[in-house]
Amino acid sequence: MVESIKEKVIFLIGNGFLGKKIVSVFKEKGIKIITGGIEEKSDYSLDITDEKSMIYLFKDLNPDIVFLPAGITNVELCEAEQKNAFEVNVEGTRNVVDACRAFNSKLVFFSTDYVFNGIKGNYTEKDKVHPVNFYGKTKVQGEQIVQGLNDYLIARVSALHGFNSKEDKKTFVNYAVDVLKENKEILVAKMINCPTLIDDIAEAMYLMLEKNFSGTFHVTGSEACSKKVLLEKTCKIFNLDSSLIKEVESIPHWKAKRPINSSLSTAKIQLQGIKMSSVEEGLIKLKKEMEK
Ligand SMILES: NC(=O)c1ccc[n+]([C@@H]2O[C@H](COP(=O)([O-])OP(=O)(O)OC[C@H]3O[C@@H](n4cnc5c(N)ncnc54)[C@H](OP(=O)(O)O)[C@@H]3O)[C@@H](O)[C@H]2O)c1
Repeated sequence: MVESIKEKVIFLIGNGFLGKKIVSVFKEKGIKIITGGIEEKSDYSLDITDEKSMIYLFKDLNPDIVFLPAGITNVELCEAEQKNAFEVNVEGTRNVVDACRAFNSKLVFFSTDYVFNGIKGNYTEKDKVHPVNFYGKTKVQGEQIVQGLNDYLIARVSALHGFNSKEDKKTFVNYAVDVLKENKEILVAKMINCPTLIDDIAEAMYLMLEKNFSGTFHVTGSEACSKKVLLEKTCKIFNLDSSLIKEVESIPHWKAKRPINSSLSTAKIQLQGIKMSSVEEGLIKLKKEMEK
């Protein structure tokens, strides 16, 4: 019988947008997660590029499970500052992997739909990766390093939205709601992906760890849609003016290439009984969270 994760020491590195939600969803289930990162509000201060500090901390905590949502997640920043992006997303991941190997910890690594080139869409876990920008390249290298472990879980997520607090970083949907509330026009690029509610990822992680899954999984919203359709649905649910949405080939200031259709198939997790929200379900839940 698999031991419940309630008995395990869980350490999360990178207490950002997704990380915070995982911590709060697990807390509601009576599961404590210890946090580390460069953010002010983590239990332990930890920079993943600092290999020595990582080993000291692992010696203290001896974690059974390590979540790694840390990294440089801004696509434009990765393109502009490639050395820094490589050091954090690739070398930083390597440091975490080495520590997990030394302390026999299971690693849950968060990756992205941007590992694909976006020509085909509806990618499965068996499809060949082919990133088109530097961020995607660093995530592919991160995945390859993680795959060297005996026990790991790679969760490829996409186009996150959700709500922790008013201090959250502005994700695409949250930013668009703010702009549209002010009756300002918003440009959206012609792109298709699977918008994903962070609460769903946290619930999926709980189930996947309870069942001791390992390997690579697509953990995104169950439905693919264009950014334009996503915002039209957002307007309907948040009662905003959809005529302010303007679809363009690409956003003028973008330097990094984007995959046109990076939608992911979630058939593999669905077969295991994991349910992810459709676009509309996700947005309705987001609105409820924001109004709490
Ligand atoms: N957001 C999306 O739409 C999206 C889409 C696909 C995949 N993902 C993946 O999902 C995961 C979580 O994304 P997210 O949106 O929650 O990211 P996020 O909010 O940017 O969180 C990442 C956290 O890592 C921290 N960090 C950065 N450099 C670090 C370092 N050297 N050492 C320790 N911590 C460091 C950041 O701190 P600072 O904020 O202080 O820099 C931040 O708190 C990432 O792996 C990302 O690649 C996200």
